Amino acid sequence: MLTPAFIPALAGSTDCLAVLGRMVDSVVPGWRGHVFHNSSSGEQAGGGNEQEFYHKPVLMDEVLAGLEPEEDKLILDGTLGGGGHSERLLEAGAHVVGMDRDGDALAYAGKRLEVFGDRFRAEQGNFSEMRSVVPARSVDGVLLDLGVSSWQLDQAGRGFSFQKDGPLDMRMDQAAGETAADWVNQRSAEDLANIFFQYGEEKASRRIAAAIVRAREEEEFTTTLQLASCVEKVMGGRGRKHPATRVFQALRMAVNTELDSVTAGLEAAEDVIKPGGVLAVITFHSLEDRLVKQFLKKRSVKFLDRPEWPEPRPNPDLAWDLVSRKAIAATEGELAQNTRARSAKLRLAKRR
Ligand SMILES: C[S@@+](CC[C@H](N)C(=O)[O-])C[C@H]1O[C@@H](n2cnc3c(N)ncnc32)[C@H](O)[C@@H]1O
Repeated sequence: MLTPAFIPALAGSTDCLAVLGRMVDSVVPGWRGHVFHNSSSGEQAGGGNEQEFYHKPVLMDEVLAGLEPEEDKLILDGTLGGGGHSERLLEAGAHVVGMDRDGDALAYAGKRLEVFGDRFRAEQGNFSEMRSVVPARSVDGVLLDLGVSSWQLDQAGRGFSFQKDGPLDMRMDQAAGETAADWVNQRSAEDLANIFFQYGEEKASRRIAAAIVRAREEEEFTTTLQLASCVEKVMGGRGRKHPATRVFQALRMAVNTELDSVTAGLEAAEDVIKPGGVLAVITFHSLEDRLVKQFLKKRSVKFLDRPEWPEPRPNPDLAWDLVSRKAIAATEGELAQNTRARSAKLRLAKRR
């Protein structure tokens, strides 16, 4: 646990810990030796070579350069996953609070990082709730590495994979909310089509939604492969990507309210980062990146102007300085080792 000196506002506060957090005290079998990759893009493991699948967290050097971890700095890793980024932050001397919605991730990363003693603390929860885990203006950096981990994708029992048969679940936090099966069995054809189109940019969204509604009249959806084969029948043969890629990505985003969490997480980060502290966000697809880009743009322009105003006015929402105007992408060197990093974009901003 963090000492009261580490997080003063938490001293004596059992409430927020009870609601949000639990210390990690077990290891998940099979995790040891597994390396995480990021995949918000809906790409799934399998079919590729092992080398491509097992790899390091993306944009590591760029994240470290942005967050500048060092002794006495406190960094909140809102997407702890397997703890790859956090481990390097801790090795550099920083204190880290790691959050994840997924209890399995906390168990694994908690074990991996226990060597850092009370410099590391793990809390289960949505990063949108980070205000309950660290006090306002207390942290030197926040890292959000969005999406799901390869471990999550790889576990048939979690229901993220269209290639492995498992329960149609897809919840990052398995203790809360509706499963993907609830969504496909209960939502109207119109709702489903909108989800597939908005979150998956799926052009055949209406045809797929109609086919799902017809199929569920015969038999409810309970498994991943049931859904994958229903989509495959609508889409015909396989191209380079599995035809269910976009539908699975869209459902995952809906089930986990991912875009809402990003918006709320950015606002929370603005409250908890101290002046001079840094926000680092890694995204994997355009919807998320657009949210981050627009949020930072709106809050980093110094003056606002409108044709009807006699002169520009100071921006009342000014809170950030962009570290770079453009998003940072993986280097050729990283891409050569890790093709999954190709859609990763890092945005960095400094709190004013
Ligand atoms: C791409 S992985 C992070 C990998 C990590 N950076 C590493 O080095 O191993 C994303 C993780 O974030 C978690 N996650 C995604 N959205 C979240 C949210 N809104 N709140 C908390 N955790 C979230 C997922 O459960 C997953 O474990």
